[in-house]
Amino acid sequence: MNEDFTKVNCDCILSYIFSDKLKPTGTLKILDQYLENIVSQLIGEGEIKGKLGETTIIHTYGKIGAKKVIIVGMGEKEKCNLETIRLAAGYGIRTAQKINARIIATEVPNSSDIAASLELVAQAITEGSLLANYKFTKLKTKKNSYSNYAIEKLLLIENEPAKIEKINSGIEIGCIYAWAVNMARDLVNSPANQLTPSAFADKAKEVAVQYGLDIDILSGEKIKEEKMELMYSVGQGSEHPPQLITLKYNSGKENANTIALVGKGLTFDSGGISLKPAERMHEMKNDMAGGAAVLGAMQVIAQLKPQVNVLGIIGAVENMPSGKATKPGDVYKGLAGKTVEIINTDAEGRLVLADAVAYACKLGASTVIDIATLTGACLIALGKNYSALIGNDEKLIKQVIQAGKNSGEKFWCLPNDEEFKELLKSDIADLKNTGGRYAGTITGGLFIGEFISPQVSWVHLDIAGTAWTEKDKSYLVKGATGFGVRTLANLVKTFE
Ligand code: BES
Ligand code: MN
Ligand code: ZN
Repeated sequence: MNEDFTKVNCDCILSYIFSDKLKPTGTLKILDQYLENIVSQLIGEGEIKGKLGETTIIHTYGKIGAKKVIIVGMGEKEKCNLETIRLAAGYGIRTAQKINARIIATEVPNSSDIAASLELVAQAITEGSLLANYKFTKLKTKKNSYSNYAIEKLLLIENEPAKIEKINSGIEIGCIYAWAVNMARDLVNSPANQLTPSAFADKAKEVAVQYGLDIDILSGEKIKEEKMELMYSVGQGSEHPPQLITLKYNSGKENANTIALVGKGLTFDSGGISLKPAERMHEMKNDMAGGAAVLGAMQVIAQLKPQVNVLGIIGAVENMPSGKATKPGDVYKGLAGKTVEIINTDAEGRLVLADAVAYACKLGASTVIDIATLTGACLIALGKNYSALIGNDEKLIKQVIQAGKNSGEKFWCLPNDEEFKELLKSDIADLKNTGGRYAGTITGGLFIGEFISPQVSWVHLDIAGTAWTEKDKSYLVKGATGFGVRTLANLVKTFE
């Protein structure tokens, strides 16, 4: 919005400061003048240090239109990138929420300070703010005290008219990304009695209709008939039939390549007959986070319309024990023609993905990215801030890591040596579905790779550690993170 920020009527205005440039400049300088040098004074007293995550609330007592000013630290200028902007915006919004602000204005930090375009800076502010403002309130019955979004209105203020167009376009793209991430978060936070495989398929249909994507759903027995026994076997103990959801974005460009995004959509993973311990089993409602990331990315792609064809494939299945469930030792054959001995029914994600990636290859994808909360071992190896990555194509691996950096989502590449595959040899079938305790994330990933057609570039992403967070932090809100939506959409854009 092109407006004098000292005149904007709002609950608070956010302004940013670097820790190694602790002098009010630009917007902050003007605010300081209007506020009788209180900002300079707080800097002098050491209250404002400019550290990333630090916020300082200043009451304005009617000296400007805003009731309060929140000064948000951005850390060192040298280290500042788009992720710093997202984080700073997120911290600012959190503080604004605490003081019950409903209408918030924010300055747009100077893009020349950050070595990024103005459009990207505006996009990052928008993403950080909308993601921080998310709350999963659907199931709370006291509606008045909870709303999905605490903040009603966010205004980006710029007084140079020449900059407005770029800022507006950044806002628009930022909204597209953030709404898609929050949609994915809603799905992952939803309990498994509500988000069943067929409810997941219904949601995918809704997204397809709203954003103009083609959709095709294979349900229940149909999956078995199409020779995807590995996927079918995972769901056969459940009352809820499995759903193989395929969303299609067609670029309309001649000879365009097809990229497939393939997500693990276990709406609940009890472990099956190899039942999980009770203590943390409830968390396994989030075992469809990979599928949600694919749906979110497809929602972005449908709006940004890149010049490449994209398939979004989600294997939505519930893993339950019952008289019909797979027993350890059972053998099934997948779409790619390989037989698998099921040693542990809790290693189910790779079975669903084995058929889903084979299906992607069958549909003509030349690049396949699969994304899954696949292994607990991933949390042991990399913790909660990095996702694991493994694949068969160095160039694609680099592309994914870069797309992740641009999105503020971190990936660490694991080795893919042939010798790991020995751990997956079965005595009676082509493969077994677990490789034992050692190198669990690698063998889980390489198992899926065994179902990729030759010549197809493939990368597997294990988001077991990053899909869910126990703490609020800047734009991450306790619960589902929506990890992967932005990286996948950004990645697809690099294929244009
Ligand atoms: N969905 C789990 C992996 C998981 C565990 C994700 C914890 C997030 C948090 C997966 O299906 C699973 O159970 N994996 C097993 C594999 C093992 C049996 C080879 C695991 O990691 O223990
Ligand atoms: Mn499992
Ligand atoms: Zn699982």
